[in-house]
Amino acid sequence: MTQTTQHTLRSILVTGGAGFIGSNFVRMILAERPGVRLVNYDALTYAGNLESVADLDAHPNYTFIRGDICDSAKVDETLRRHGVDTIIHFAAESHVDRSILSAAEFVRTNVMGVQTLLSVAMAAGVERFVQVSTDEVYGSLGAEGKFSETTPIAANSPYSASKAAGDLLCRAWFHTHDYPVLVTRCSNNYGPWQFPEKLIPLMIIKAMGDGELPVYGDGKNVRDWIHVEDHCRAVLTVAEQGRPGEVYNIGADNEWANIDIVKTILKILGKPESLIRYVKDRPGHDRRYAIDPAKIHGELGWKPQIQFEQGLAATVRWYQQNEPWWRRVMSGEYMNYYEKNYAPKM
Ligand code: NAD
Ligand code: DAU
Repeated sequence: MTQTTQHTLRSILVTGGAGFIGSNFVRMILAERPGVRLVNYDALTYAGNLESVADLDAHPNYTFIRGDICDSAKVDETLRRHGVDTIIHFAAESHVDRSILSAAEFVRTNVMGVQTLLSVAMAAGVERFVQVSTDEVYGSLGAEGKFSETTPIAANSPYSASKAAGDLLCRAWFHTHDYPVLVTRCSNNYGPWQFPEKLIPLMIIKAMGDGELPVYGDGKNVRDWIHVEDHCRAVLTVAEQGRPGEVYNIGADNEWANIDIVKTILKILGKPESLIRYVKDRPGHDRRYAIDPAKIHGELGWKPQIQFEQGLAATVRWYQQNEPWWRRVMSGEYMNYYEKNYAPKM
């Protein structure tokens, strides 16, 4: 059995804690680690929303700071002022379709942002750095096989290429500077507070309003879905018990073709399949992702808890009950993006 390490979290900086996964993570830490002080550092891009963490404002261990991860002076000041011992790095440009329309922000945040954080964190004496990454760095699978931690990096989209570059910088900081970095690579997340540009919330909201559901290509691309709370618990496990320098894949052994997810959502909502529109495919669309989570199971004892059909039904209910939230985040900038991405496809 491989030796694990035990790291005690005392004062942590969570980047991107106003986004989908980050906000779920912040909520989980404040509820389950009462001794931990937490700074949520987020630039509040189109994807970051303070309403997603408004219920945490009064928590005595919680501070929000609006800041860019590329702003080294602000990161440095924040780390020192709050005596940060651990960084959990979620902040990113995260949507593949946006990276196809324009890649510049992806390189800035996902590559230069990681370099900035690593440099400043090391100089400030931060003891541990967790890079939250993605299975998309491994590229695309055929009908068989799964991604393991030793699968070669073969990123195919500007998004995944920028995340892979960030991961390689983390690897370099460990090997060159002996800096304690850990990397997690998770499959597709679903759950509450996800920005409705992503497949599951977009299809729920379109179906609720009897709109057209845009399915790319033949709808048979496969993704491996995990509930966001299971992902967050896995990241916490890696932060507390993982071995520096290691990569940990995170997944729930839950592969679905896109079209089957879309049909399931329609069924939950009692809507007809005639709402489905097959549209022009995403350029460079990866065919299949599937994670082999054996390492995190065996070494750290983490296992997912949320069964997909129940988690999906609860997620549909959440979007039904939180209409003011998604209506607000879908206004303004989002509408311009939607026009640009879907107009040539529909
Ligand atoms: P998201 O787009 O919902 O949130 C990203 C957050 O980062 C937002 O709050 C945004 O304001 C913030 N941000 C963006 N640029 C910033 C900058 N320069 N400085 C500071 N803050 C900035 O993303 P998400 O889906 O929650 O993903 C979080 C992380 O998890 C990302 O690193 C992503 O690559 C990774 N990941 C996501 C998934 C998924 O299915 N969503 C799966 C695996 C890994
Ligand atoms: O695998 C992890 C990755 O999962 C994360 O790193 C990314 O941040 C996250 O966005 C997600 O990437 P995907 O590209 O897989 O997710 P998305 O929700 O955009 O698309 C899921 C699948 O659904 C994909 O095959 C494309 C398809 N799709 C998506 C949209 C938005 C459609 O068919 N129609 C759509 O309108």
